[in-house]
Amino acid sequence: MNENKKVKEFLDNLKIKYRIIDVSKEFSCLTDALRFLNIKYRYGLKILAYKIERGIILLLTREDRSVDEKRLKQILNVNFIEEASNNELLKLGFPNGKLNFFSLKSKFEIYVDSVVFDVGKIVTNLDSNRFLIEIEREELERFLKDLGFREIEVSFPNPLLQDSDNINIKTVLSGITPSGKALHIGNYYGAVKPQMELQKVVDRSYYFVADLHALTTVQKKEELEECIINNILDFIALGLDPNKSAYFRQSDVPAHCQLAIVLANYIPFSFLKRMHAFKDKLEKGATYDQINMGLFNYPILMAADILLYKPDGVPVGEDQRQHVELSRDIAERFNDTYGKDFFPLPEPLIQSGFSAKVIGTDGKRKMSKSLGNVIGIFEEEEIIKQQIMSCYTDPNRIRATDPGNVEGNPIFIYHDLINDDKDEVCDLKRRYEEGKVGDVEVKEKLFKAHMRTFSSAREKRRKIAGNKDLAKDILCEGAKKAREVAEKSIDEVYEIIGIENEMSCRKMY
Ligand code: ADP
Ligand code: TRP
Repeated sequence: MNENKKVKEFLDNLKIKYRIIDVSKEFSCLTDALRFLNIKYRYGLKILAYKIERGIILLLTREDRSVDEKRLKQILNVNFIEEASNNELLKLGFPNGKLNFFSLKSKFEIYVDSVVFDVGKIVTNLDSNRFLIEIEREELERFLKDLGFREIEVSFPNPLLQDSDNINIKTVLSGITPSGKALHIGNYYGAVKPQMELQKVVDRSYYFVADLHALTTVQKKEELEECIINNILDFIALGLDPNKSAYFRQSDVPAHCQLAIVLANYIPFSFLKRMHAFKDKLEKGATYDQINMGLFNYPILMAADILLYKPDGVPVGEDQRQHVELSRDIAERFNDTYGKDFFPLPEPLIQSGFSAKVIGTDGKRKMSKSLGNVIGIFEEEEIIKQQIMSCYTDPNRIRATDPGNVEGNPIFIYHDLINDDKDEVCDLKRRYEEGKVGDVEVKEKLFKAHMRTFSSAREKRRKIAGNKDLAKDILCEGAKKAREVAEKSIDEVYEIIGIENEMSCRKMY
């Protein structure tokens, strides 16, 4: 802990009872420290800063909650709201651009999410995640009263951070397009890792390889086949448990296409014109003649993929949020048309922090297979090393003796994600900021951490390489389970819309 006088003074002046917890090692975020200490997420106090028209406000909520920004906007009666970035926080004088318990002594308005007072105590970080402070509820309330605050109701449960005794997500579903290139760490931390974690705690998980979606770009038969097999083998190596999750191939369940045709009628053309994938193509100069209808209709097929299984949550990366939200719009419009609560509205389950949208090695755009700015998982060691060594770092740092910037620096974002040796990460960051370590050492350590973290997955992947039978068995089993649910849904939909009735002969063949 930063033992300087000011800190001590601050703690001594609190006039409340508190306990300091020594985590015993440094973690990059409060979530990880709580997990390590086996402290429930609901006790974690999260301090956030938002920019609004009249300046900055601080919001206190719990680790297991997500902020409903629309609601926050209404409560504050503002038109604009955005979470402040680390750089902005740095400029505002928060050390390292991070908020912690000491930030509360700043002069900004404080809002407290009412759920904070629903638990008996809170635990939050001091000036690093190495030391935490624990405060009983009554004491916290007293302390906040002295600072002046307004209590508001502004959050909903974050499905990815529920304590095991409080899981309310029962069914999850997600898909991945087999578009030719191998998985990268962005896919892993943004989507695959949470998917593998969720399969352990929910009642039903459906994951599938979206081969029909791949047709927008992959139009060579052999290539498509190879992509599908590699995709399933990658998932097995990364922890897919076929006894827990149904893993299937989209085209093995015809109900996806059947429902897509139906759903297309409940969403206007103008909504699809606003979808990022389509707009990006146009912005990159593609003409209408060069964009196939598969790409334009992609979000409708995706809505069908999702809604057939009536999941509570869809674990994906940030770039897929718009798609999941469109599926909610479609579901609502369908429900309204027939006056029934037929499709539950699926929640996008998106990681918080850097994992939601892992930056690419170019330091500019999100890591993406099609942009070639990736760090792979299963490639040869030499390739991974090359990918890491060519990664963009702080452009203003010319010599190893120049003080460097850690915040937002891709190489340190990757360290935070991959490197399990948090003391090493902490030491590297400190030396980087002091100009006492070269980029090469930072990158070599990241390479070693990558090899450590993914060694068992890589080993497993090597063992099952080319094992088509294994892939086929899993896909067949998965398709059976998926079809059972999907066919029931499509029957129900047909009945609701008036296609399945005594005149219908579709079940006779
Ligand atoms: P890519 O952009 O590399 O082609 P996909 O579209 O196949 O990736 O995405 C597969 C899953 O991985 C999706 O859930 C997507 O949101 C997630 N994902 C892709 N890239 C990233 C990234 N850079 N950071 C976090 N999640 C990502
Ligand atoms: N669009 C997703 C991707 O590119 C793949 C996908 C297709 C998907 N259908 C889905 C994801 C349904 C979640 C739910 O990765």
